Amino acid sequence: MSLSRRPLLALALCASALTPSLARNTQPHAPVAAEPGIPQPASVQLHSGFLLLDGRFHVQLTGYTEPRLDRARDRFLEHLTAQTGILFGLEPAGNSPALVIHTDKPSAPVQKLGEDESYQLTIDSAGARITAANPLGAMHGLQTLLQRVQTTPQGFALPFATITDQPRFPWRGLMIDCSRHFIPLPVIFQNLDAMEAVKLNVFHWHLTEDQGFRIESRVFPRLQQMGSNGHYYTQQQVREVIAYASARGIRVVPEFDMPGHATSWMVGYPHLGSAPGPYSVETLFGIFDAALDPTRESTYRFLDAFLGEMAGLFPDPYMHIGGDESNGKAWRANPRIRAFMKAHGYTTTQQLQTYFETRVQRILARHHKRMLGWDEILNPALPKNAVIQVWHGDQFLIEGAQQGHRELYSRPYYLDHMDTAAEMFQADPIPAAAKLTPAESKLILGGEACMWSEQVTPQTVDSRIWPRTAAVAERLWSPASDRDTNDMYRRLQVESLRLDGEGLDHITDLERGLRQLAGTDADAALILFAHTLEPIDNDARYRAQHPTQLTPFDLLVDAVSPDPPLRHQLNQLVDRALHGDNAAAIQLRAIFQSWAQAAPEVAQLAAGSPRLQQASERIRQWPRLATAGLESLDYLKQAMPAPVGWQTAQKTLIQDAAGHQDLVNFAVLPAIRKLVDAAGSGAVSLRRSSQGGIHVTGG
Ligand code: ACM
Repeated sequence: MSLSRRPLLALALCASALTPSLARNTQPHAPVAAEPGIPQPASVQLHSGFLLLDGRFHVQLTGYTEPRLDRARDRFLEHLTAQTGILFGLEPAGNSPALVIHTDKPSAPVQKLGEDESYQLTIDSAGARITAANPLGAMHGLQTLLQRVQTTPQGFALPFATITDQPRFPWRGLMIDCSRHFIPLPVIFQNLDAMEAVKLNVFHWHLTEDQGFRIESRVFPRLQQMGSNGHYYTQQQVREVIAYASARGIRVVPEFDMPGHATSWMVGYPHLGSAPGPYSVETLFGIFDAALDPTRESTYRFLDAFLGEMAGLFPDPYMHIGGDESNGKAWRANPRIRAFMKAHGYTTTQQLQTYFETRVQRILARHHKRMLGWDEILNPALPKNAVIQVWHGDQFLIEGAQQGHRELYSRPYYLDHMDTAAEMFQADPIPAAAKLTPAESKLILGGEACMWSEQVTPQTVDSRIWPRTAAVAERLWSPASDRDTNDMYRRLQVESLRLDGEGLDHITDLERGLRQLAGTDADAALILFAHTLEPIDNDARYRAQHPTQLTPFDLLVDAVSPDPPLRHQLNQLVDRALHGDNAAAIQLRAIFQSWAQAAPEVAQLAAGSPRLQQASERIRQWPRLATAGLESLDYLKQAMPAPVGWQTAQKTLIQDAAGHQDLVNFAVLPAIRKLVDAAGSGAVSLRRSSQGGIHVTGG
């Protein structure tokens, strides 16, 4: 019998609908009990009452204005209409409530690092008011306002509040690697929209790699003609991206990775290489030996002309030159380069690389650009004005700061590592363990979430970036004291749905992927299954599958979320149930029952879907985990430790389910393990009282 879509989804949704935080905001004329929005503002004072929204609500711009603010106002109203279904008027209607945006003065003609991004937002019975020093702050204030719209019995409303807000760090970035897989412009635009929504202000555009040279050069056209397989951004398109980003308060920093990760440069210009070539665009992934020749003056003449061309295209003062994972093998293999090293007294290829970076830094300076590179470029001989992006251990952060470099923190924000939003959120750009001095801490400009694209396609990239990047955005914007992971997840879930509704596809893509795997739209059972799973990380998948640029990336692993909301939800329910919360125990039972009910359908879908069969072990383990959960609840209710034989069987099952199989892991395993352990120890028991409640006994 086929399970219909609705009851299963209703069960899954019912679990989240019952969480108390989502049920709180229904009281009219009372301040919201649970704060909305990501990132959290620096300071929020709530007052009693709501400003009800209706079609008469309108927006006035006062003080300094510019077309960018007009467009920001129009976008704000479009989003507000999308959220509420109300058509808002631009013109005042009598003394109807207005949003007044007051901006003191313009921001810099080219957005600068460290510009004032602060704003004040007040909402009271007279209306809403955003006051900002310049358009950057005004645009941030508009995003905060959108996130504060609540539903009340009277309709959509804004709770009265006074908000004073500014970022903790001036550099809050998202890097997207558009080289391993080309990411089309519409996907870039929708990511810029989402960045604006969570107040990220740097789009780091990784444009060149072994696997593709993704930008048009008019000076050296063979770069894109021979190095991109036809997938590159024209200069006109680049200008459009820069304008689109600038309209949203976002700087665009391009990366041209060198001297390694540069095979695609040498396909059309082999004389740049340290080996004679010929070169071809890579379709495999990894670290390749090919590297630019740092010893020939012709290399620097080429870079001067190319970087000069790019400096004219990208207005931002910073330019990223990569510098990562250059293994030096091609240099050591070339007698001429070995002789150069000897003549300069270099005993390591790292010294030669520093020579190269120093030459590139001088070229950039001539073109009025500051150099930014990955932490491999760190070396005491490197010019101090180079900015270091840390992606190895914190030791690099410490050394870089001690050497006086300004730095960006990215190590914990690698999206392809598949860490949870909680892990990313808790990782501070100024780690306490690093013991940076106040002067060293000042050198940390912020950080960037990094989306390497070896294992993503335009169809899956949103789901890898979002919503976890919103948690990084909060870490980079909000005060250091903001540490409540449960609260972050509560707000993240709301914001995630809003972002998908407004143009991102991170939820939509996953659902479409599952439908394609199922080969039917009666895929509710598969959705339930997918919510229990997470992808293995990129390194593990690389070892298991050796994917290449030509791999389709259309398996179950590609259609499951890196941090499924059910993981956190289940952890919380188990904790609450083990502390005697009857409602939580009932919800847990409902969830496990829904799994048990859906499992035969998933097995049936897999029988007709060769791509799903790839996950056959997980499909087999899933109903057994449901049973383990249900039986744990039964034993806990009986207030007796579960029999030893049962405990042993469950341990074996959990061990089996924790093994690396099928490219996907069970994200829900820690919650089930906790329940099983509690049932086995008998230290906690859930016992039905005569009133039907559950008692906790034991310690
Ligand atoms: C890097 O992840 N290779 C910078």
